[in-house]
Amino acid sequence: NQQEQYSCAVLTLSDKGSRGEREDTSGEFLKKTLTEAGFILQSYEIIPDRKEIIIQSLKDLVDNKRITLIVTTGGTGVSPTDVTPEAMEEVVEKEVPGMAEAMRAASLLKTNRAMLSRGKVGIRGMSLIINLPGSLKAARENLEVVLPVIPHALEKIL
Ligand code: MTE
Repeated sequence: NQQEQYSCAVLTLSDKGSRGEREDTSGEFLKKTLTEAGFILQSYEIIPDRKEIIIQSLKDLVDNKRITLIVTTGGTGVSPTDVTPEAMEEVVEKEVPGMAEAMRAASLLKTNRAMLSRGKVGIRGMSLIINLPGSLKAARENLEVVLPVIPHALEKIL
């Protein structure tokens, strides 16, 4: 199983979560699902919705920790604190808009609110970074769209 070689990180973006005021059910789900899919979980963090902190964390995961797959959850919407896409703009070298659009398209069949997610997918160095929305339901419904394609994407990136 080719996937077993790939390292992964889960990064939860939540002000409340980072203060310990909310249980990170989305992060727990992502850790479990990615591990079951054969990825090796090497990092899990909950950080606040602050652009500079998100940029720093993503750069650290790619440039220092050399994690192959980074999945974020939260901060993709339209409220003032949602700045995940703005952080991505300063981190990724290439966007993979088709993956983000595929998630929105599939999600729109479930809820019209899917159009409010501004999540991006992109590549920095030899890492793929995927933004998922914050709720457990949304994280699950979005991940299942791209998960089958991730191994092939990583084969090409590496
Ligand atoms: N996508 C799916 N598949 N299912 C959902 O329930 N919720 C939407 C959207 N995408 C949702 C979804 C909602 S209500 C919002 S506000 C946006 O994701 C952004 O979520 P975020 O701000 O938590 O990142």
